[in-house]
This record gives sequence, structure tokens and C-alpha cells, in this order.
Amino acid sequence: MHQFQRTLVTTALPYANGPVHLGHLAGVYLPADIYVRYKRLKGEDVLHIGGSDEHGVPITLTAEKEGIAPQDVVDRYHRMNYDAFTKCGISFDYYGRTTSALHHATAQEFFLEIEKKGIFTQKTEKLFFDRKADRFLSDRYVTGTCPICNNPEANSDQCEQCGTHLSPLELINPKSRLSDATPELRETMHWYFPLGRFQQPLEEYVNSHEGDWRQNVVNYSRTWLRQGLNDRAITRDLSWGIKVPLDTQEAAGKVLYVWFDAVLGYISFTREWAEKMGERDLWKAYWQDPRTRLVHFIGKDNVVFHTLMFPAILMAWNEGRQSECYNLADNVPASEFMNFEGRKFSKSRNYAVYLGEFLEKFPADTLRYTIAMNYPENKDTDFSWQDFQNRTNGELADTLGNFIKRSVDFTNARFGGEVPCDSSPEAWNSLGINWTDTLQQLDVAFEQFHFREATSLGMEIARAANRFLTESEPWKVIKSDREAAASSMALSLNLCYALAVVLYPVIPETSNRIYAMLGFEGSIEDRFTRGVSLTASLLHPVLPKGHKLRAESEILFTKIDDADIAPELRKIEALLVEAQKREAGAEQHRMEFKPVISFDDFLKLDLRVAQVTAAETVKKAGKLLKLQLQVGSVTRQVLAGLARYYSPEEMVGKNVVLVANLAERTIRDEVSEGMILAVEGADGKLFVIEPDGLEINGKQIQ
Ligand code: 2FM
Ligand code: ZN
Repeated sequence: MHQFQRTLVTTALPYANGPVHLGHLAGVYLPADIYVRYKRLKGEDVLHIGGSDEHGVPITLTAEKEGIAPQDVVDRYHRMNYDAFTKCGISFDYYGRTTSALHHATAQEFFLEIEKKGIFTQKTEKLFFDRKADRFLSDRYVTGTCPICNNPEANSDQCEQCGTHLSPLELINPKSRLSDATPELRETMHWYFPLGRFQQPLEEYVNSHEGDWRQNVVNYSRTWLRQGLNDRAITRDLSWGIKVPLDTQEAAGKVLYVWFDAVLGYISFTREWAEKMGERDLWKAYWQDPRTRLVHFIGKDNVVFHTLMFPAILMAWNEGRQSECYNLADNVPASEFMNFEGRKFSKSRNYAVYLGEFLEKFPADTLRYTIAMNYPENKDTDFSWQDFQNRTNGELADTLGNFIKRSVDFTNARFGGEVPCDSSPEAWNSLGINWTDTLQQLDVAFEQFHFREATSLGMEIARAANRFLTESEPWKVIKSDREAAASSMALSLNLCYALAVVLYPVIPETSNRIYAMLGFEGSIEDRFTRGVSLTASLLHPVLPKGHKLRAESEILFTKIDDADIAPELRKIEALLVEAQKREAGAEQHRMEFKPVISFDDFLKLDLRVAQVTAAETVKKAGKLLKLQLQVGSVTRQVLAGLARYYSPEEMVGKNVVLVANLAERTIRDEVSEGMILAVEGADGKLFVIEPDGLEINGKQIQ
């Protein structure tokens, strides 16, 4: 185990193509912020780097739709997201943009280094070209019919209906999104990163983190490794992006693939941070000193880019070097998803709560707390307005807020606003809290990314404190025993301080308000980065007799009335009605029959009974089964979108009905020579038609 001296935390760069929503906050930015704030409390050297991902095709599509320049799109969303994060208390040390000059230079430097070493390969391939628009159509510029599920509006990289990853060439009836024209195929050369060359070191890298990385992160990475890593195209024929930095004919009109440049943003932004700090080389300690711990906070959809692709790029840079080698991530705490009122967030369907809009209505800390308590660490979780209201009113206002206010108000009213006596370590230990264990548990929870547990532990202390104050009744006791009341208040005030510290990573603004009410200047973070020890702050009472509180108290949390969330609930109802309508529309669409065909057309189909002799899943096409069929003495290979419903083992030995005279098609470099018949059940599940089971007039068909 390394002794790390500092930590570099990165958060996935959100595309500057729309506002971030609560799902993004829950999976990436809040957990990262809790983590860095905890590290700062411990007085550790930690740097939090984030920023906007400002390239990629969806951005140019937005620009084209709105009739503005891509730069205008990214300017708008960069600002919007940065403002929302700031309002939410996400404390970046630097928030960069991938359109910056230094980022372009950094990404180009990496490209050239890897090119110089001869690691890239180049391949000429046929890609769609829109003659009307005079451009190659990469990725999302092509739509068409999905070869697996017949969805007529499949994207060229993925079909949203059945989830299959596709390449443009696999689409049936492809269309250009720019002009609606049918695109033609043209040859073009691209640079490829040979991920397979790093297969072994990547396997070793992932294996070395078994046990300390989350299981889902190891599993996603292993699924890719098991399938064997392939070459990945890292250039595109586009105008928006980082130019391929070569002065050759081949490089003209080409930019780096957005994922190649985005991950390098973490490095460029650290360089920009160092420049801002006035120490140009300071970034090197964070990337190139092996005593630095690198941690990437991401969502589960970004795992392989961070556990395989980015490390491989860094390995390619490091190859053959003695110095200026980059560290690989020590941990990649990828989250599951947080849903919203039981459904997935969906930007395209506007089924989302956007962070900026939320914070116009409710304070950041109530959101941070609710989300921390629903942190999607190992499974998907849910955000609901009801839960938000309950936690704000019950846990934050009634328990934490009430305890703090009662403690401060009573001291101000009856003890002249001063801690009335020293609180004894015995009293500190009499609350039923084992402080040594709690500290240890908190440390493990924060350090190992169990943020729900850490937050719950904080709230447990608040509950114990609130109980103590209620039960010791100093407002009654003071009439007969002023000393006993004084000692209850001394303990309570010290608990206020401990709570402000423990909950600081989760609700920093509230903690600083408590801190100010307790009579301190500045912020909690300043105090601890100046060397106050977190451990010593919690193991015994800290506020001495005579410590002066601020004269006024304040209400920390305003309760949320039903009326406050009613408009939000109405909005969801409307969205759900819309979703139901859409589903009903889809059902109607399913019930619409296709145009009539002639009897002669039907007779053209050559249907045969065939036996499945072998079956396997197709690499990188998780939905497809590759079947070998025997039809009399002839064998046929058929690719069928059945992997979600049948395992290869279940298929072998089955008799099926084969459309034997269908034109050949190539999917994922595999030829499909026909189609087998299946029917769709009510829930969308496909059942293969098995002639063995058919009976006609009571006779079994053989
Ligand atoms: O999925 C996304 O939103 C990407 N923009 C994340 C990029 S993370 C990093 F590589 F920059
Ligand atoms: Zn599909």
C-alpha cells in the first residue's frame, strides 16, 4: 500500500450541451465534493479538477438546430453548469473548458507523442458522405432502421429501442440528419489507437485493484477485457474539435475523437490551475509524482473510458520514458444511477430536475443532504419530492436545526452568551456515543466512498444530541440547579461544534453558519487547513468556559410545506401522463398492420425447418446470438437479436423456422444468411417459433 502525500480528484466533464440535472449531481459531483471537503478537514493536500466537455457531435447538432455556432452552445452551458455547481457548493479548485488553447495543445501533444512512437495504426475505410452537405457523416449524423429490432429511428452508434451498439454501415435505409439524403460511401483514412496492444498491462492494472475498486467497476472492465480489446478510431471527419496536428493531406479536415480529448482535459485543466496559481510546473506533482493518489469520480456509463482507454493512453505516453511518466488512477468510484420519482432521468423527454432550477427554489444543503442519503453507491436509488420534504423537515429542521438553535438561544438568554463551564470528558462520553469508534467509522466511510453511511453517522450524533438536550431539560433544571443546567449547556454547545465539523463535507454552508453562531470567525475549512486536528476536535469537548457565542441565532432550515412541492408534483404528473400517451402511441403503432402484400409475394418466402447446431454471443453486440443452422445437408449462419431472451446453450438443439431465401447481410463483420421466426409476447419478450411444439388437428407436427 502506497503512502500517498496528496490526492488529485477529477470529476467527469459534463458535455456543455445541456444543463446538469440531479442525477449528475448524485453520481459524480456531490460525492466528489464530499470527499475533497473531508480531505481538507484532515488537512490533506487535495486538488479537485473538473470542467466542461465542449466537443462532440451532439453539440454541433444542437448548434445546427438552433442556427447558432457551436461556440455559442458551449459558452451558454459552460456558464450555466458552472454557476449551478457553484451555487450548490461544489468546490472545484479549477473548472476548465476543453475549447481552451492549452487543452488543444495538450491533446495535440499526446497525439504527436503516440504518433511519433508509431503506436497508432491507420486504416482506410468507407464512411457515409452527404453530397448535399459536402461532409462525412460521423456518428450521430446518420439515422436509419435498426437491423436488430427494426426501430426506424435508430442512431448510427446505438439503437435506443433495443440498446444494441451499432455502426453506421449496419443501418438499414440510412439517412443523413443534415439533409435527409441517402448518404453515399466514400473512402477516408483514420488514426486508430490499438487498445489490444495494452491488453496485458490493462489486465494487470485492473487485477491489481480487485478488492479496492467497486465490484461493478472491475466487472465492467473485465467484460471488455474478456472480449479482447480492439483498435479504436480516435479521429473523425468533423470541423468542430481539436485538429489533428499534422500538416499533411491526410490530416486535413480531421479532428480528434471527443473521448480521446476529453480525458486529457483532466491534465490540461491541472496545468491551467498551476498557471493560475503562478507556479507553472506545480501540476506535475499531481500527475507525475507516484506519491499522488489519482481518483476519478464518474457515472457507471463512463467506466471503460477511465479504467481502460485513459490508462492505455497514459501507458502509451509512458512507454520508453524514464521521466515525466503519468500516474494511473488509484481508484475510480463509479456510481450507479439515481432515478427521479421512480423513472430514469431523460434529457430528451425533459424528465429531469435541473440543478440550477432546483436551487432557485430550495437551498443547496437540503439537496446535498437528501442526495447524500440516497447516494447510488452500489445500486440505483431514487430522488422523490416526498423524501426531500421528509428529510428536510424531519432530519434537518426538527433534529439538527432545532438542537442548534435551542442550544444557542438558551445560552444567550440565560448564560450571557458564553459557554457557562468547561465540559468534562466524562460528560462527553456519557452520551452513548463511542467517539473513538465513531471517528474511525467516519474515516472509513469518507475514505472508502460510503457517503450515505458517513452522512447517517452525522445525523445519528444530531439525534443523540437532540435527545440529550430534551431529556436534561436545562430550562426547568435551571430553576433549582443552575450548575447542572450550565453543564448540560456546555455539553450541548460542544456538540453543536462537533456536528458542524462532522457534517461539514455534506452541508458546508450550514456548518459554517453554525460555526459563526458559535462565535468563530472565518470558515471551518480555514480552521482545519491551518492545522487544527480533526481527531482532537471530536474526541473531547473543545469550547472552553467563557467562549463567547455570537449574539443572534438563526433558523438553519425552513420547513417545506406541501404547497412548496405541489407544483413540482403536478409537473411530474403531467410528464407521466405524457409518457403514458407516448406508450399508448407506441402500442397503437404496434397494432397497426403493415400494408397488404400479394399472395405471390408471400409465396416468395422459402420457409424451412432448421436445427440449431451451435450458438454463441457476438463480440461487442451483446444482444446478438450467432447461430449455426442445419437445413438438410446445408448449413447456414444466422445472427438473431435473441441474446436477451435465450442463452446460447438454450438455443442449441432447437428446431426453428428459417426464412431461407433472405438476402445476406453483414453485421459486426459477421454474415447473416437468413432469419429465424419469432413472436413478440405482451411484455416485448421474443419467443422463437419451435415447430416441434405445434399441433394441427390434434397431431404433433414433426
Ligand atoms: O459522458 C459524458 O458526459 C462525458 N462528457 C464525460 C467525459 S468524462 C472525461 F473523460 F472527460
Ligand atoms: Zn434496435
